[in-house]
Amino acid sequence: MWTDDLSVGISEIDHQHRELFGQLERLLDACVAGEEQEEVLKMLSFLDDYVVTHFVTEEQLQREYGYPGYHAHRAEHDHLLDAIVQFRGEVRECGPTRDFVLRLNQTLIDWLREHIMTVDRAASSWLLARLPQPADVLPQSGSAAAIMLPHEV
Ligand SMILES: [Fe+2]
Repeated sequence: MWTDDLSVGISEIDHQHRELFGQLERLLDACVAGEEQEEVLKMLSFLDDYVVTHFVTEEQLQREYGYPGYHAHRAEHDHLLDAIVQFRGEVRECGPTRDFVLRLNQTLIDWLREHIMTVDRAASSWLLARLPQPADVLPQSGSAAAIMLPHEV
């Protein structure tokens, strides 16, 4: 699902994007393998939390550097979070059926690809021109900073 053309050049953001695609893949595998619904629900909730964590990382970075497209970017994130709230309501009523997981997966994959290729890429190239050490360092993000992918070490 992840392809190299999705890289935006900032290690931590790329790492989180890869992780999101990885989780979507695992969720799909679990569903296809007929895992217990409880297991699928656990994965769903983890995915949900990770999306929020990821958006916060991007938004903090954009705010910190005064990115002029911040509000439009944030609106896109909020739009997906609204969609996730709807999915959450649906799964509460009907459970994580195979049809549900397939639709959720496709929606998130389509959204992520489109979002990464357009607004994330625009924000990242703007930020890369301003980050002190492009691609490696995120300011003031504590221990989560400077996550290096194995092939970059
Ligand atoms: Fe984004």
